[in-house]
Amino acid sequence: MGNNLLKGKRGIIFGALNEQSIAWKVAERAHEEGASFVLTNAPIAMRMGEINNLAEKTGSKVIPADATSLEDLEKLISESMEVLGGKIDFILHSIGMSVNVRKGRHYTDENYDFTMKGLDVSALSFHKVMQTSKKLNAMNEWGSIVALSYIAAQRVFPDYNDMADNKSYLESVARSFGYHYGVSDKVRVNTISQSPTMTTAGSGVKGFNEFINFSEKMSPLGNADAAACADYCIVMFSDLTRYVTMQNLFHDGGFSNTGVTQEVIEKFSS
Ligand SMILES: NC(=O)c1ccc[n+]([C@@H]2O[C@H](COP(=O)([O-])OP(=O)(O)OC[C@H]3O[C@@H](n4cnc5c(N)ncnc54)[C@H](O)[C@@H]3O)[C@@H](O)[C@H]2O)c1
Repeated sequence: MGNNLLKGKRGIIFGALNEQSIAWKVAERAHEEGASFVLTNAPIAMRMGEINNLAEKTGSKVIPADATSLEDLEKLISESMEVLGGKIDFILHSIGMSVNVRKGRHYTDENYDFTMKGLDVSALSFHKVMQTSKKLNAMNEWGSIVALSYIAAQRVFPDYNDMADNKSYLESVARSFGYHYGVSDKVRVNTISQSPTMTTAGSGVKGFNEFINFSEKMSPLGNADAAACADYCIVMFSDLTRYVTMQNLFHDGGFSNTGVTQEVIEKFSS
């Protein structure tokens, strides 16, 4: 049951691949809260077809777009305004991919073509989405744009590889674009730094199972799951957070401020 937190709001949700995707949960929650939105993903991801089930369930239209293509983004954002009947109130950027990770390249042995591709998909695409929406004057005042990040942007998690650099860039874009979009259109821009979550992108990281268990034990509240992340996104899209902008917001059960926990200490008692 929703509370009409997003009643009358229009959005664009990037990145729902399957039921595990964080974006999938956000779409379900946004629907419950009364929003109407367009779902989008890379044309290649569409082939799996699962997004159509989500579209049916939430009464949304699917418009394919490669988030690295300005042409696709322009078409997506213009068509979204037509389909939804007006300017946009919220955008979720839930996109990440590293070719170096996929191909098992070590951080100290990157293939730089892979690096540039991953940077474009995971971070520059966020700038491209906002630059395009700004040029098209597509956002309503007090609109909210959120991208998903991870704490490897601030601290070293060796197997996160070049995604750590991509997330640092992503968070920097949120601050810098957030400044300009705030001044010009009163649009707010934030990143949510989420706990490790069992999704297609997440489980691509080496040693992910061990890592998710470690993180669980290092978080006073335990890992936040995808559904809880969706709740947080909804709050950030709602009118209840109108003055929150240019922030990286940790949604991680307290992991980011924990040095060690009793549970982890006990593992070392001899
Ligand atoms: N799963 C985790 O542990 C975790 C933790 C913190 C942050 N995040 C972030 O959450 C976001 C969503 O990931 P997820 O865990 O839900 O996994 P996911 O694999 O379900 O989602 C990633 C999405 O990115 C899309 N994508 C890839 N290339 C694209 C392109 N060129 N254009 C448009 N879309 C493209 C994929 O099709 C997919 O839908 C990512 O930014 C990820 O880094 C994930």
